[in-house]
Parts: sequence; structure tokens; C-alpha cells
Amino acid sequence: IRPVRRFLANGKLKHQRQRSLRAHDTPLLWVIREQLQMTGTKFGCGAGLCGACTVHLNGEAIRSCQTVVSDAVGKTITTIEGLSAKGDHPLQKAWIAEQVPQCGYCQSGQIMQAAALLSENSNPTRDEVIAHMDGNLCRCMTYSRIQKAIMRAAS
Ligand code: FES
Repeated sequence: IRPVRRFLANGKLKHQRQRSLRAHDTPLLWVIREQLQMTGTKFGCGAGLCGACTVHLNGEAIRSCQTVVSDAVGKTITTIEGLSAKGDHPLQKAWIAEQVPQCGYCQSGQIMQAAALLSENSNPTRDEVIAHMDGNLCRCMTYSRIQKAIMRAAS
């Protein structure tokens, strides 16, 4: 929030407090993709609706397009690149075994959302999986394979 001065129609100055986009207001997604060049995290809707930008902040799945970078200061950020050292997280193995991806665009967000679930609940029911993954959209409709892969990774 910063003060700004505006001229009113009568020529008088009006002092207002106006929100402006500053460096610490930058969405975390831009820092991850543009500054750090880690492009596994995707931009989908930019409005918190699709889940393509899902990363972990202190282990919790969050939408990085809706998280300002100042809210991440001092916290641990995990992207798909950091989920496992060699791409061998149980979910990544299950994704391959179930041949989940079609176009693949949303899949890193899907995996990060699923990883947050399994870290809280290592043996979820299918209904719990469906409920947890509800906000992550896939235009290729790979939902049934995503659910199978999560159940496989959990078993
Ligand atoms: Fe962040 Fe869609 S890009 S939720």
C-alpha cells in the first residue's frame, strides 16, 4: 500500500492509499519460472482455478499463481523438480506405470497436489483421493488414470 496523490475535477489534490504491484507482490509462479528458470511448474489460468501451478510451501500444496513471493520468504518451496532426486518418487513411478499423461501440461501440478495428500495420508480411500484432487483440472480428462496412479503409489 502506498500513498498517491490525485487531482480532483476541482483541481484540488486528493491523497489516497493505493495498492500497487511491487517486487514482493510478484506471484511466486513468476519467480519460479522466469527468475529461477524452473519450468516444470506451469501457468494455466492464473486465477487459482486449474492447479497447473501447484507447488508445496512448507509441505502444503498451494497455487503459486495466487501466492505472492513475500508470503514465501523463510519457507520451504518444493517444485516438481525437487520432489525427488531422480524422478523416482512413488507418484512419479506410478504415473509412468499407469501411463497417466496425455498432453502432460497439468501433470506436474497434479503430482504435487497428490504428493501433499500422501504426505498427510499415506493410505487414502478413492473418495479421499477424488476430493483432494478436485481442484486440479485436466483438459485431456486423465482423471481416472490419475486416481489409479495415486492409489498405486499409496499401496
Ligand atoms: Fe495457478 Fe491455474 S495457473 S491455478
